Amino acid sequence: MLGTQPIIVLKEGTESTRGKTAQSNNIMAARAVADAVRSTLGPKGMDKMLVDSMGDIVITNDGATILKELDIEHPAAKMVVEISKTQDQQCGDGTTSAVVIAGELLKKSEALVEQNVHPTVISNGFRLASQQAIKILKEIGFEVSPTDKKTLKLIAMTAMTGKSVGGERDRLADIAVEAVTSVAEKQDGKYIADIDNIQVEKKHGGGVADTQLIKGLVLDKERVHSRMPRIVKNAKIALVDSALEIKKTEVEAKIQIRDPMQMQKFLDEEENTLKAMVAKVKKSGATVLICEKGIDDLAQHYLAKEGMYAVRRVKRSDMEKLAKATGGKVITNLDDLTQAELGHAEQVEEVKISDSDMTYVTGCKNPKAVSILVRGGTEHVVDEVERALHDALRVVGVAIEDGVAVAGGGAPEIEMSLRLKDYAASVGGREQLAIEAFAEALEVIPWTLAENAGMDSIDVVIELRNAHSKKTGRSYGVNVLENKVSDMFLAKVLEPLRVKTQAILSATEVASMILRIDDVIASKKLSPAEQAGPPGGGMGGMGGMGGMPPGMM
Ligand SMILES: Nc1ncnc2c1ncn2[C@@H]1O[C@H](COP(=O)(O)OP(=O)(O)OP(=O)(O)O)[C@@H](O)[C@H]1O
Ligand SMILES: [Mg+2]
Repeated sequence: MLGTQPIIVLKEGTESTRGKTAQSNNIMAARAVADAVRSTLGPKGMDKMLVDSMGDIVITNDGATILKELDIEHPAAKMVVEISKTQDQQCGDGTTSAVVIAGELLKKSEALVEQNVHPTVISNGFRLASQQAIKILKEIGFEVSPTDKKTLKLIAMTAMTGKSVGGERDRLADIAVEAVTSVAEKQDGKYIADIDNIQVEKKHGGGVADTQLIKGLVLDKERVHSRMPRIVKNAKIALVDSALEIKKTEVEAKIQIRDPMQMQKFLDEEENTLKAMVAKVKKSGATVLICEKGIDDLAQHYLAKEGMYAVRRVKRSDMEKLAKATGGKVITNLDDLTQAELGHAEQVEEVKISDSDMTYVTGCKNPKAVSILVRGGTEHVVDEVERALHDALRVVGVAIEDGVAVAGGGAPEIEMSLRLKDYAASVGGREQLAIEAFAEALEVIPWTLAENAGMDSIDVVIELRNAHSKKTGRSYGVNVLENKVSDMFLAKVLEPLRVKTQAILSATEVASMILRIDDVIASKKLSPAEQAGPPGGGMGGMGGMGGMPPGMM
């Protein structure tokens, strides 16, 4: 007889949630993530203090950083966290906006599901709407020339509003623009601005105002011997990645010394070896030695005697940057060191920054080498300034690469929203409902900007809709600093186009993906003891909002 015997397909303990329950759980979890970062959006957005299990503190306004630090466990919530990462990788800014838009799209679609619109219809509508939205964005974008430092500075300043940079936004924006324009280069007719070429060093002590741009490289290292010169002009730099030390034998060896003469000879031999190493460096014509490994005390002494400047234990990544900047070659065997391998810089100098000494290598052969030394009163301030500066560097880079920007402050979102409503009517069918929902969801950005600034969101959105319905009001947005609706070009709030398009793309994708799930099959959660055993949990850890901080649901 069929049907009397239960057939077990899934492993015992597997949890399955289906249909509407699964869908609404997922939507709720994803929206919880969006709500968690919502209050940080915009210039008047607040910061969050995150304390990890070790008691380490991070204070930040950056959406991607907040979500990275949270221990999020729900699978749908994790998917939303992913978009903040993508946004961060692609543009460096707009992470909060992307997540907030995704949350709002899901909220609107929940209402559509209630009205029995099928999730695939909704996701189709969303796809059409996002394609159209990107078209609209491209239409309202304006060109930015890679040499237009004034506009680039405004873009950098917009990215840093609302981040705690201690009133030094102006100065930091100048630094960001200067740094990015020096590393940007034209390749095959296209601009590439690789931010990784900008070296960022952090040092606390002093104030944010002490942050400086250095045309060259900065090493967080002091010269190894106090008798060495503090400044070397017209420096010839040897880059060595092996130690200037006596090698220890790998096998255990015993040396028997029977009389004091032999002991002396042994020591002399060691001394001679080190002397010979220093002589090889000297012979190449080098005046500065930068070593990736250690330098023996005695070798330091001889180097100082020769009037050389030497630093040791420099990071591998810094050695590579030095080689690129000074035109030198990193060598392993001192016998290979000749004049041809030496790098060149106008000046190598030891500079005292708060209570530590750093080495500045300036006037490098390659003018594209730039560094930023980030300063601030405490470590937390320095970290947040670095994050804000990172956003600024990235947006300037993106603006140079793409050459298109838009006015911000919610202006593009309202413009898209209005035009999408017209577009929806032209599509018709059930998809029309989804496109309309998409259009309404975009209003969440100006709405939240106003809300966080303590303005009346309803009034603001209505006023914006009115302004945008006229041709002259297309760049009107929320002027949160003056508590009114005004032209964002005049308010100098500018953002690269890519920040907006990427946010729309990834928010749409994640919302559609979450909507289409109607079955969550989660393996049994392993106890810590089981986890330590052989791997195999598969989808372990699904279901439940276990890791969310209280108050997030
Ligand atoms: N002076 C300003 N007036 C009005 N709106 C502004 C101003 N400066 C920035 N904005 C707007 O604030 C929003 C950005 O806020 P915020 O920087 O907090 O979040 P994000 O860029 O989405 O994410 P994150 O910076 O955390 O990666 C954008 O919509 C931007 O146009
Ligand atoms: Mg931002």
